[in-house]
Amino acid sequence: MKNTFDTRKLYFGFPVFFLGYKDEIHGYNITTSSSVYSLGRMVVIGMRTKSNSMQHILKTGEFTINVPQKDLLEEVEVAGFNSKKDKFDLTKLVYSLAQTVDAPLVDACPVSIECKVVDKMEFGALTNVVAEVTRRVVDEQFVDADGYFRNDQFNPVLYIGDGHERLYRSLDDESVKMGSLIENWRQKNM
Ligand SMILES: Cc1cc2nc3c(=O)[nH]c(=O)nc-3n(C[C@H](O)[C@H](O)[C@H](O)COP(=O)(O)O)c2cc1C
Repeated sequence: MKNTFDTRKLYFGFPVFFLGYKDEIHGYNITTSSSVYSLGRMVVIGMRTKSNSMQHILKTGEFTINVPQKDLLEEVEVAGFNSKKDKFDLTKLVYSLAQTVDAPLVDACPVSIECKVVDKMEFGALTNVVAEVTRRVVDEQFVDADGYFRNDQFNPVLYIGDGHERLYRSLDDESVKMGSLIENWRQKNM
């Protein structure tokens, strides 16, 4: 039986990432977020409008998404529990400059996406930004001999929980190829 579940929030597993942006005080900066999805060349992020990151992203129109694995969890918290600080200095993470936008790429993150803002929509104290993907960067360790993403190897950290408590969760090693199940179903049902 399912019941109404009263909570301020319910995050059902969103990947943790560092937003990279140009900061007029600190030069380049990062902030932790978990609000992202991508469809084709579109990417959408959500942040508190008053956060340092969103203020600068709206000003410059450019940012990066940098996806860590669990080895960077402490840095995830440092960049997520400090506002308006120089978070490259606090985390000691190292960056390179992106090629298609004026924003930093976090070197220790195996996957990064360079993005240009196309549109924004406010929702209360939050702003959603719709952006175009201008470049994708993947560590060679996660690219196979044919040049494809090694999607069975990459382990993003998922942010899961309700208003009471939220956790970081890791994926297990199991993976199922998309399209493999629908074929079985068609053979049984058509
Ligand atoms: C795991 C994690 C996920 C977070 N996700 C978001 C998010 O999706 N949106 C948001 O506005 N803040 C999110 N935060 C909080 C921001 O990182 C935090 O408010 C930060 O201090 C903002 O820094 P800034 O003002 O320097 O940009 C998250 C924090 C953590 C630790």
